[in-house]
Amino acid sequence: MKDMLVRLSELPKVDELEQKLLEKEKIVVRKAIAPEKHLVSEWVFTNFGSYWKSEVEVAFSRQPVSCWIAQRGHDILAFACYECSARNFFGPTGTQESERGKGIGKLLLLKSLESMREMGYAYAIIGGVGPAEFYEKAVGAVLIEGSEISIYQHLLRKP
Ligand SMILES: CC(C)(COP(=O)(O)OP(=O)(O)OC[C@H]1O[C@@H](n2cnc3c(N)ncnc32)[C@H](O)[C@@H]1OP(=O)(O)O)[C@@H](O)C(=O)NCCC(=O)NCCS
Repeated sequence: MKDMLVRLSELPKVDELEQKLLEKEKIVVRKAIAPEKHLVSEWVFTNFGSYWKSEVEVAFSRQPVSCWIAQRGHDILAFACYECSARNFFGPTGTQESERGKGIGKLLLLKSLESMREMGYAYAIIGGVGPAEFYEKAVGAVLIEGSEISIYQHLLRKP
C-alpha cells in the first residue's frame, strides 16, 4: 500500500454536489459531534472492522472532531476522517456498499481536505491507499514514490 499526495490549493468546488445529494437523495453531510461517538464507531466497526473503529475513535478525541459523516434520516451512510494515525493524513474513509457511486465518498473527501486546508496545510497525504484511481480522479492525488514502507509497516495483528 502506498501513500498519495494532494495539493489543497486547487480543490474542486463542493456546493453543487452537496446540493444534489441533499435534494435528490436527502443526504446530509456534516462534521460528527461528540455525543455520536458510540454510534459512528459501532457503524464503522460493523461495516469496516476494528482497525478503522480504532482510528475513528481518535477522530472523536479531537476538538473539533476530525470526522465527516453522511446521513439519511438517522442512518449513517458514510464517514471520512483525518489526522487519526498521523498528522496531515487523510483517512480512513468508507461508504456503505449499497450507497456507493453516488458521489458521497468524493464529497466527504473534499470536505475533509477543506478542513485540513483550514488547519493551514498546503498538501495532504492519503495514507495507505486503497483505491488510487478514486483519489486521482476526485482530487488529482499522486502516488508518493517509496511510500510502500509506511506508518502501518509493523501494525499489530491478532495472532
Ligand atoms: C472508496 C469509496 C470510499 C468511494 O466511495 P463512493 O461513495 O462510492 O465514491 P463516489 O461515488 O464519490 O465516487 C467518486 C468517483 O470515483 C469513482 N470511484 C469510486 N470508487 C472507486 C474505486 N474503488 N476505484 C476507482 N474509482 C472509484 C466513482 O466511479 C466516481 O466516478 P465519477 O465521478 O466519474 O462518477 C468506497 O468505494 C468504499 O467505501 N470503499 C471501501 C473502503 C475503502 O477502500 N476506503 C478507502 C481506503 S484508502
